[in-house]
Amino acid sequence: MPVDSYALLPPYRIKVVEPIPFLDAGQRRKAYAAAGCNPFELRADQITVDLLSDSGTGATSSAQEAGAARGDESYAGARSWFRFRDEVRDLTGFDHVLPVHQGRAAERIVFSTLLRPGQICLSNTHFDTTHANVELAGAEARDLPCAQALDLDSDEPFKGDIDLGELERTLTGPEGDRVGMVLMTITNNGLGAQPVSMANLTAVAALCEQHGVPFWLDAARFAENAWLVREREPGYGDWTPRQIANHAFQLADGCMISLKKDGLAPVGGLIAVRDPGVYTACEANLIATEGFSTYGGLAGHDLERIAQGLREVVDPAYLRSRAAATERLARLINEAGVDTVQPAGVHALYLNAGRLLTHLEPALFPGHALASELYLRGGIRCAELGSLYLGELDDEQRLVRPAPFELVRLAIPRRVYTDAHLDHVAATLARIAKEPGRVPGYRILSAPKLLRHFKVRLEPAV
Ligand code: F0G
Repeated sequence: MPVDSYALLPPYRIKVVEPIPFLDAGQRRKAYAAAGCNPFELRADQITVDLLSDSGTGATSSAQEAGAARGDESYAGARSWFRFRDEVRDLTGFDHVLPVHQGRAAERIVFSTLLRPGQICLSNTHFDTTHANVELAGAEARDLPCAQALDLDSDEPFKGDIDLGELERTLTGPEGDRVGMVLMTITNNGLGAQPVSMANLTAVAALCEQHGVPFWLDAARFAENAWLVREREPGYGDWTPRQIANHAFQLADGCMISLKKDGLAPVGGLIAVRDPGVYTACEANLIATEGFSTYGGLAGHDLERIAQGLREVVDPAYLRSRAAATERLARLINEAGVDTVQPAGVHALYLNAGRLLTHLEPALFPGHALASELYLRGGIRCAELGSLYLGELDDEQRLVRPAPFELVRLAIPRRVYTDAHLDHVAATLARIAKEPGRVPGYRILSAPKLLRHFKVRLEPAV
């Protein structure tokens, strides 16, 4: 297929660079052992290509930094607040906007305002902090992903959709009265970075209206979802990503956004909502716990970076080149013999470690083994999404219930790595895939009860 290289060019060039470390194999082995074989415990200066998260790790633009220099740090009513508020109003169409320091603060405030103990929050898939915040509010977080999402190889275009039949059955069934809200995560980070179609969002909105249930978006990657709608859903090819995003927001009653992703900023989040009563209740909570309602825990310079970032992120040229870079990496990885969740998303690729490392049973954590090998062979940091993260352990730290899949997420920071860095990732995987049987499994030495993956210590099981 001929490739139009001009059309795929990123719409920026690099002005400020940051050195990245190169360690030799012996140094990496030592660093990894000292980190208890846990990528979260590595120091950033021991990592060559860091694909642990796309959150807060993107590069800012000269326009964002110019805005930051003009940041107004007044305690209340700062100029930067009004710039931020107007951008968010214009993008989302919601009148009432509250800034927060990051996405999970928005989750805590919204769930503790909207959900009562014993209620259920339904979602295509809750992200892990979202799940935790629903449960901290005393409610139950229940995922209803569509059936295609569970077939990792299917190339259905909208595997982020919620199962509409299951949603309707729950709303009309005996538990219907307990449903406190429906939350759609766009894109679905918890299940393969898959997008949600506008058709699905429209149907969810109609069901929620019919049953009087609030419908919210967890819109951390609203721009990337809009891009994939434009590319994959009939009828949206001549819409701009901004128009699609705006339409999605307007189907909902409110949204929470971690601005560390599609806000193109190192920090930040927001709540935006139509209903003034919900806004007032959230505002009281915000002032008590995050900061006054015109800064919400952020500095004026943060608000400026975000206001500008929200404009840059919906640029079709930016989204096209980012999607193309991730898709290219997926192709190189697949050609090297490593399967990824299909089709490729934008912010991350998910490697099917269970299929590559067939000699390792789930109790030896094949996802973690592959993530470890990427560091040891290539200085690449990433994390597993498999039995180490999601499986159930007994008191002796033995795996008693494996996760459904053994995956590894390669999250791609925005505007940070060039194709050469991503080629290195594909080449390292190709070397591993030549002799997968040589990759050792891992055994847990110690693990905390809560949020295990952050603090677990392991050793190779050789
Ligand atoms: N919702 C989604 C879909 C997310 O992916 C995240 C964070 C959050 C909410 C929470 O936002 O970090 O600003 O508090 N995801 C990061 C990740 C951590 O690596 O995927 P936050």
